[in-house]
Amino acid sequence: MFVLLFGPPGSGKGTQASALAERLGVPHVATGDIFRKHLREGTALGQLARSYMDRGQLVPDLVTCDLVASRLGENDAAGGVLFDGFPRSVPQLYWVLGHLGATGRSLAHVVNLQVDDRLILGRITGRRTCTNCGATYHVDSAPPDADGNCTRCGKPVVQRKDDTEEVVRDRLVAYAAQTFPCLEQLVGRVPVHNVDGVGSIEEVRVRIFSALGLQA
Ligand code: AP5
Ligand code: MG
Ligand code: ZN
Repeated sequence: MFVLLFGPPGSGKGTQASALAERLGVPHVATGDIFRKHLREGTALGQLARSYMDRGQLVPDLVTCDLVASRLGENDAAGGVLFDGFPRSVPQLYWVLGHLGATGRSLAHVVNLQVDDRLILGRITGRRTCTNCGATYHVDSAPPDADGNCTRCGKPVVQRKDDTEEVVRDRLVAYAAQTFPCLEQLVGRVPVHNVDGVGSIEEVRVRIFSALGLQA
């Protein structure tokens, strides 16, 4: 099953994705995470992506769609994936609908996480991310262990370079201009479930599961 977790930066896509992907039995495909992996490994793609990410702008569609095409070509993705942060422009949306459609597959559901801009700033500037496994934390609502290390793997957690207030504002502008319009195109083609993303992480998880008819 192909499912899309949609929503503005900081709405909780990454936080909710692991449990949902596990329940659906599909891999979690987050383009932002894949770009950051390339960054850590110092690849040419990582260098290119950095120049956009650090400014809060979208990496060009062709580069992003190529990356997703190769990820979808891996064995574990044949039966479905949970997309997080992709597609995030109308051209990316039409590309993925066409790419799946060409092999008789389709997007089954869209979960649209709704969080007010005012809350987003605090969530993102307080976020800390593991340098090793990519797990995310929040200085107030979901802190790492007492030494400031990752609870999952023990490695240091840091603030993402694009999680400063200045870059977040640019990311929100990019979301409004390029990503949000995807929703309009999706309505009528794919079931879109609007889910309130404000509440505890557990409360939001239960809402998402129930919107998809999954037992919490
Ligand atoms: P990406 O990594 O996808 O970032 P994003 O979409 O801006 O979203 P975030 O990861 O910031 O937020 P999230 O919704 O995952 O929130 P999270 O769960 O972490 O993209 C980064 C960049 O890569 C882009 O700007 C672009 O340059 C590039 N890129 C990526 N994909 C691309 C594409 N398809 N095309 C082109 N360019 C692309 O939660 C945030 C914080 O809130 C955390 O600290 C968390 O602990 C906390 N939190 C979560 N839920 C709750 C809750 N219920 N209550 C309290 N706190 C909570
Ligand atoms: Mg994320
Ligand atoms: Zn870790």
